[in-house]
Amino acid sequence: MPLELRALLFGFVTLLAVLLIIDDIAEVEEETAKAAALVDPTTLIQQKTDTDHRPPSYNASARPSPHTWTFNKTLSTLIRKNILRFLDPERDISILKGTLKPGDIIHYVFDRHSTTNISENLYRLLPTISPMKNQHHRRCAIVGNSGILLNSSCGPEIDSHDFVIRCNLAPVEEFSRDVGRRTNLVTMNPSVVQRAFQDLVSEEWRQRFLQRLRSLSGSVLWIPAFMAKGGEERVEWALRLILRHTVDVRTAFPSLRLLHAVRGYWLTNNVHIKRPTTGLLMYTMATRFCEEIHLYGFWPFPLDPQGKPVKYHYYDALKYEYTSSSSPHTMPLEFRTLSALHRHGALRLHTGTCDPQTDPERQVS
Ligand SMILES: *[C@@H]1O[C@H](CO)[C@@H](O)[C@H](O)[C@H]1NC(C)=O
Ligand SMILES: *[C@@H]1O[C@H](CO)[C@@H](O)[C@H](O)[C@H]1NC(C)=O
Ligand SMILES: *[C@@H]1O[C@H](CO)[C@@H](O)[C@H](O)[C@H]1NC(C)=O
Ligand SMILES: *[C@@H]1O[C@H](CO)[C@@H](O)[C@H](O)[C@H]1NC(C)=O
Repeated sequence: MPLELRALLFGFVTLLAVLLIIDDIAEVEEETAKAAALVDPTTLIQQKTDTDHRPPSYNASARPSPHTWTFNKTLSTLIRKNILRFLDPERDISILKGTLKPGDIIHYVFDRHSTTNISENLYRLLPTISPMKNQHHRRCAIVGNSGILLNSSCGPEIDSHDFVIRCNLAPVEEFSRDVGRRTNLVTMNPSVVQRAFQDLVSEEWRQRFLQRLRSLSGSVLWIPAFMAKGGEERVEWALRLILRHTVDVRTAFPSLRLLHAVRGYWLTNNVHIKRPTTGLLMYTMATRFCEEIHLYGFWPFPLDPQGKPVKYHYYDALKYEYTSSSSPHTMPLEFRTLSALHRHGALRLHTGTCDPQTDPERQVS
């Protein structure tokens, strides 16, 4: 081949490649812009400022309407795609064994200057593959812990979902009529060991804790061990019990990038959350594994729509200042965002009572 022809050919191929790349970029950007505009919860929320802390409980009209909800598959698919740009929940749901070894130093996500070591026990309990690998479910329930669930009779409806996510090892047995029993994934902040199980000080508390873990039989136990310093001993105690008694749970420890990625997704959509709550984290991740997502027990207000007091947790007497500026969370803003997504059919927020007789599959409301 003559040199000039070869040069020309090379030039042509290069040009073609460049054009294709440019085209590709343009397409991605256009798609991103389009998706962002469609999903942007600010447009959905009509830009109420976050200084507006009035709970919708003072005005029943602000309550998500229970009667007109239909699932918007297009929107939910779009949200899933957008979230995947920031994180891959299948991967970020847990650190895997291959990526760390015992003795490795970890910087806490929120306390960057403090470190902890990967203990032998933690290493042994790291999963080798993602506990959510290849999992796809049609209907998922995420159960928050608000007292709004009390007397809701939502237990059977919640349990009818294909996959049920719960938060902070909340008790279910004694509340099953209202919250159900089924658990496929449950989170456990290290502080739970202290708050709900008295730091396992006595044999009695250790037994109670063990019993709760055993009741999970095979579910994923998701432990955010590396978020904030101070919990390492509690995590260690819990892991030691799990190993010593060969408790049948699948432990998972969120990746160090998960929180920033989730926050990044919402910030990009103009939802200025300080630190996502476990509930919002779970929703963000569940978009990857679930077709339809139903939220129960999300109600960050001290009064219900009728003006009756609502406990912060359905199972204890903890008090909480929802709108305190010292709180790391921005719950009313999260709730407004979720309400907006509910109105557009991306998810379903259940805040009322359930009819225990109704087959939820056929429920129109
Ligand atoms: C409460 O609802 C009524 C209509 O039901 C509406 O006129 C009013 O503006 C609402 N108030 C607030 C504070 O949202
Ligand atoms: C579903 O959501 C998409 C994207 O936001 C929107 O264009 C469409 O109108 C919605 N469909 C229904 C039936 O609400
Ligand atoms: C943890 O790491 C620190 C710093 O390297 C080290 O001094 C300490 O001995 C380690 N502790 C354990 C239990 O491995
Ligand atoms: C639930 O119902 C019982 C019995 O009617 C009642 O005593 C209790 O106060 C109710 N609790 C809440 C939180 O509404």
